[in-house]
Amino acid sequence: MTQLIDGKRISGEIKEELKAEVAEMKAAGREICLAVVQVGEDPASSVYVNNKKKACAYIGIRSEAYELPESAEEEELLALVEQLNMDPKVNGILVQLPLPAHMDADKVIRTISPDKDVDGFHPVSVGRLWIGEKGFCSCTPAGIIELLKRSDISIDGKECVIVGRSNIVGKPMTALLLRENATVTVAHSHTKDLKKITKRADILIVAAGKQQMIDDTYVKDGAVVIDVGMHRNEQNKLCGDVDFEKVKDKVSAITPVPGGVGPMTIAMLMNNCVETAR
Ligand code: GUN
Repeated sequence: MTQLIDGKRISGEIKEELKAEVAEMKAAGREICLAVVQVGEDPASSVYVNNKKKACAYIGIRSEAYELPESAEEEELLALVEQLNMDPKVNGILVQLPLPAHMDADKVIRTISPDKDVDGFHPVSVGRLWIGEKGFCSCTPAGIIELLKRSDISIDGKECVIVGRSNIVGKPMTALLLRENATVTVAHSHTKDLKKITKRADILIVAAGKQQMIDDTYVKDGAVVIDVGMHRNEQNKLCGDVDFEKVKDKVSAITPVPGGVGPMTIAMLMNNCVETAR
């Protein structure tokens, strides 16, 4: 029987644990505050930002919302981030991406203090991750490690293949799997004979951003498949980078979309916020 890796349940457990931890911190007089900055009114970003604010409220983290118009100058955003860096009441800073085209997102990310970088996007956070120092890690790959561990899937010594090399998922995922003693291969859009590589995987992580690109011909019998994709198909239903129906009976465990990796991202963001106060 294929194990369905239930991200909704596992993220719920994590949120309950964090809620209890935050209540203890509060009783000891310690409050946590996350500053959430949004520029413009991109509808998808507004949904993400609202979900983050709701998760904060549930766990007992105070969130402060900062909304700048689409037309705001980059200098205005940089000044806001610097002000939040210096504010001792603000523990974490999140600038929702994407930013308008006239802003340099890398410059904005570099301006966030690495000690408040709960997204784990700052080059200092990335460097700390790669050399195994304590620091913030990008939330989606951190959530995937937590999903595997809490589903009793061992990583040590496993052959792991990641499809996708983004700064937010593929690259930090590589560092985290190495830390767990896996053997890691990263495939991407220029990879030759992708199937040959993905079929080697004991654990296959797909973050390619291409709707249902992985079917049963790409996976080994009994593999574990983690699907990071999120798309809407022709029937307006959510689906991933993996063709779930074709793959599910061939593998030992798989994440559904929705309800797999997605809910873990916010849970790990909340964990990073709590980490600022630990
Ligand atoms: N836009 C889409 N995902 C993310 C995320 O994880 N963090 C931020 N800051 N922006 C995003």
